[in-house]
Amino acid sequence: MIRACGVGVNYGPVQAVTDMSLTIAPGLTVLSGPSGSGKSTLLRVLSLVERPSQGEVFVRDVATSALSWAELRSLRRKEIAVVFQNPADNLISHLTVGENLRAAGAQDFALLDQLGLSGSATWRIGALSGGQQQRLAFGCALARGASVVVADEPTSQLDVRSADLVLETLASLPVPAVVASHDPRLVSLADLCIPLAAS
Ligand SMILES: Nc1ncnc2c1ncn2[C@@H]1O[C@H](COP(=O)(O)OP(=O)(O)OP(=O)(O)O)[C@@H](O)[C@H]1O
Ligand SMILES: [Mg+2]
Repeated sequence: MIRACGVGVNYGPVQAVTDMSLTIAPGLTVLSGPSGSGKSTLLRVLSLVERPSQGEVFVRDVATSALSWAELRSLRRKEIAVVFQNPADNLISHLTVGENLRAAGAQDFALLDQLGLSGSATWRIGALSGGQQQRLAFGCALARGASVVVADEPTSQLDVRSADLVLETLASLPVPAVVASHDPRLVSLADLCIPLAAS
């Protein structure tokens, strides 16, 4: 679905990502590595937010370097859902849980059961714990019909118990997911772990 070939990113003299080739396969792919090793940068490139300095990113075999920014944006909206670190950044706080799902395109609230959020459709977002909010964020990503979910450190702002809820959701997503994380438990759940080295 998403394939990177020889991707490098430099910011002036800083080589943030060097010659990465990878395929986001079904299941959970985790990018791990120390701070500054380029995890977030690589995720931005894979989610078409940023163009690589070297190499190519293919989405459904389309070579994205040939696309305009407008074409990149529309491809991203169609295929890729991004879940941010901070749960609140992923949801519309003045809407209820159900309204958030509907805004993402859900026809019904069946997803809530899968997310362990049964019966919460009428709740305000503020009534959910951070972990529940992050679960709902993954639910909204699915409701949007994305083919791939991309998440940068989705558990790093959560306590251990809240993070557990999110790990269960991540391990059972029906679409491929690529996640950057320092969390050893997340790494242990990965179908594929890609270690990035400090630059
Ligand atoms: N927009 C930018 N401009 C200049 N340098 C950048 C930019 N974004 C990242 N960098 C540099 O690129 C390198 C990789 O950064 P990146 O944020 O991708 O690492 P990371 O693995 O996500 O780290 P962390 O675990 O701390 O989130 C770092 O040296 C960083 O300072
Ligand atoms: Mg980062």
